Amino acid sequence: MKSERAFNTPLLEHAWTCMPEGIRRTLSTKPIIPAIAAQAKEIALRKPDFIRSDQGQIVGVFPDKEIYYGPSAGLEELRDLVGKFWTNAYKLKDRPGIPPEGLNKKHVAIVSGATEGLAILMHLFAYRQNVGLMSLHWSNYKGIIQNAGGNPIVVDLFDENYNTDFEKAERCIVENKITSLLLNFPNNPSGDILSEEELAQLAKLARKKNLILISDEVYNFIRYKGEPQSMLSFAPERTVVVSSASKEYLIPGARVGYVLAADEMFTNSWMPNMIRSFSSSPNTLGQNILIELLREEVNDFENGRSPRIITAIKKELKSRCDLMISILKEKGFMLAGRDKDFPSGAISVLARLPEDIQIDDKAFVEKALELEKFSAVPGSVFGAPNCIRFGYAGMTKEAILKFSQGLQDVLDSCRSQRRDP
Ligand SMILES: Cc1ncc(COP(=O)(O)O)c(C=O)c1O
Repeated sequence: MKSERAFNTPLLEHAWTCMPEGIRRTLSTKPIIPAIAAQAKEIALRKPDFIRSDQGQIVGVFPDKEIYYGPSAGLEELRDLVGKFWTNAYKLKDRPGIPPEGLNKKHVAIVSGATEGLAILMHLFAYRQNVGLMSLHWSNYKGIIQNAGGNPIVVDLFDENYNTDFEKAERCIVENKITSLLLNFPNNPSGDILSEEELAQLAKLARKKNLILISDEVYNFIRYKGEPQSMLSFAPERTVVVSSASKEYLIPGARVGYVLAADEMFTNSWMPNMIRSFSSSPNTLGQNILIELLREEVNDFENGRSPRIITAIKKELKSRCDLMISILKEKGFMLAGRDKDFPSGAISVLARLPEDIQIDDKAFVEKALELEKFSAVPGSVFGAPNCIRFGYAGMTKEAILKFSQGLQDVLDSCRSQRRDP
């Protein structure tokens, strides 16, 4: 595949080749209104009496209650803070393929949650393409790929012992003519991660097969083992990262996500053009909340400390996870992810139903709901039949202790049903 235009990175080259003609036209057109608005805003800052008749909203009726549109790429301060956070958290300075000082605001576009970011990326990379998904994947991925005219295909990165098998993955990629991979580590539902060596091998495979890596890193800092990593460090020329404040900063309702890439044309020009026709611009209230949080976090990094807010969140989650794991093990569940002992990150556990429970994962969850003991998600929703995803992040320790008794009651009920014909 070669596009008729010359681009500096495989990321742009690949997207330009895959995208429908209509999107090429959108990206080739410089929108007029944002340019006028930016200039008008700048003049108004210097000349407060400057008359603005460019604005597409009602102003000055209830000034203290009005919420204004922001720029399509997001508020500049937030873009700058996200760039700084990622540069510090994932050590992106002096990495080949990334500017020596790391990412700046031009490498970040703010979106309405990671979900909108993924939807936009799929419109750029998935149209009439086969997109590889990991065998355990967030249930929304398939719809997001299909809505953009793509075809999701599972690429298993692991062998039966859960070790990476890149040769097997390569065969699957070649046989299915896969052009991009949608990755998610730490993983929903299992919390699985890839080691640094494995990320480097994956980058090598992506280069060999000219793949684009769309890396969903919404749980990136919530890691219980090893240092957090971003795929951007390993294959910056062909990686685009999606993340958000939903999980790591506890504000999913604020709908603030971000797309990051080392090629600023992607994030500073293409993404805002796409956002204009998806949601116009991200939520300014949510962005302001995140600005306050990230100011503190970036300040901590710049003073040589760990970011205190997310570190406290991680600590609390780890202790909830500890409790959840001990209960699940005591009740005969085995962890179904890579790590049989303790999940490596994220906010949920994937556990295999005990062998003597002879109903499937969907029936098990139905039973728990019918008895009004607890809710959980059947593993088959994520590609893991006969497993259950227990999300411990939404439960306090008291709730997890109560859940223990509920779980016992549901198991007892399944077992007694088996005995009574
Ligand atoms: C892996 C993964 N990506 C993305 C999302 C959605 O994130 P957001 O709320 O930022 O749209 C979720 C939510 O469950 C998720 O698990």
